[in-house]
Amino acid sequence: MSISSSCSTAPGTDKSVFERAFATCAENTLSNLPALAASGRTWAFHPDGRYEEWNEGFFEIGNWTTGFFTGMGVLAWLRSGDEAFLNAVVGMDSLYQRKVTEGAADTMHDLGFLFSPYAVALAKLTGEEKFRDLGVRAAELLADRFIAEGNYIRAWGRMDETGPAYDYDGLAIIDCMMNLPLLYWASEVTGNPRFREIALLHSDTTLAHFIREDGSVYHSFRFHEDGTPKGPDNYCGRSVESHWARGATWAMYGFALGYRHTGDKRYLEASLKVTRKWISLLDEEVVPVWDFRLGEGETPLRDSSAAAIAVCAIQELDGLGHADAEMLATKDALLARLCSEDYFDSRSEVRGILKKGEVGDGVGKAKYAYTSWGDYFFMEGLAREIGVDVSWW
Ligand code: GLY
Repeated sequence: MSISSSCSTAPGTDKSVFERAFATCAENTLSNLPALAASGRTWAFHPDGRYEEWNEGFFEIGNWTTGFFTGMGVLAWLRSGDEAFLNAVVGMDSLYQRKVTEGAADTMHDLGFLFSPYAVALAKLTGEEKFRDLGVRAAELLADRFIAEGNYIRAWGRMDETGPAYDYDGLAIIDCMMNLPLLYWASEVTGNPRFREIALLHSDTTLAHFIREDGSVYHSFRFHEDGTPKGPDNYCGRSVESHWARGATWAMYGFALGYRHTGDKRYLEASLKVTRKWISLLDEEVVPVWDFRLGEGETPLRDSSAAAIAVCAIQELDGLGHADAEMLATKDALLARLCSEDYFDSRSEVRGILKKGEVGDGVGKAKYAYTSWGDYFFMEGLAREIGVDVSWW
């Protein structure tokens, strides 16, 4: 579909709408962050936006989401200059420090999601050494997950858990593209090229095995112990051969960022290819169906979080001078749709912001929830529209 010709939501939304939505995000953040820090836990998603009911420890393998709360605090601080936001973000510090010193961060690859919108952002914006050191330590832990035989970063599980008993052994997932900016940054600040080399090798492996000829994307890929490719897999989309909308946006944004960090045209082409395909599959609702290849009769639940991430991906491509008119029209239409009451919850008593994010309800199944990652990327998209510089990816 061509968004510019058939979208029912007027593109080019008045910036005051974005300002107001951003202010709501900031208001929620100022109440969310201290409560999150005091809980000593993490929050991820909730069907009614009551994130405080999410029952997961900060140090558990599933925590890939705390950075979205701190990232929102940093965005609010940058926009307002109000140090209350910065103080609320830094209120998470003892948890973050313990995460890398107490062996709690060696279970998964989501260190970029966690530490870029915290340690990298604070290192860049405050210049404080302790945040730089924290970010570099997180990058070391991520780099330690690199499997040289197959040139990929292992997604989940401790690195000493190997062999047939461990399902996650030999597994890489598309989401990891968003963890790579942590590695590019670590090479910049340390002068050690190893981090960047790993990011490049993992990106090339992702190019080779995840992006299909038609621009759709696999969620996961498995490798044998000797590094030879075993084949695609799936933990998040409808099925192995389906086209998970959010997974595609991790590729859209991740490869655009890869191009920014390297200038490698292959990464730009990958981002553009996946973006064009993704846009071609949107319908009148604009916000995508959670998986573009659902079976006959399956409920076409939407994914507001994929819409928000796509906005940021297209903004990134635009900043690099490579978003065409249809991409920009799509970005405007997505953001306008997300700002509508169908998706945006402006009530300050509810912690969540974006409704109708897709969360897995068992492999191949989906349900709706407010999602912390949807909220974050929505706020990032708004921030970029109103002139806030996002420098941590
Ligand atoms: N990175 C996990 C997800 O997108 O659901």
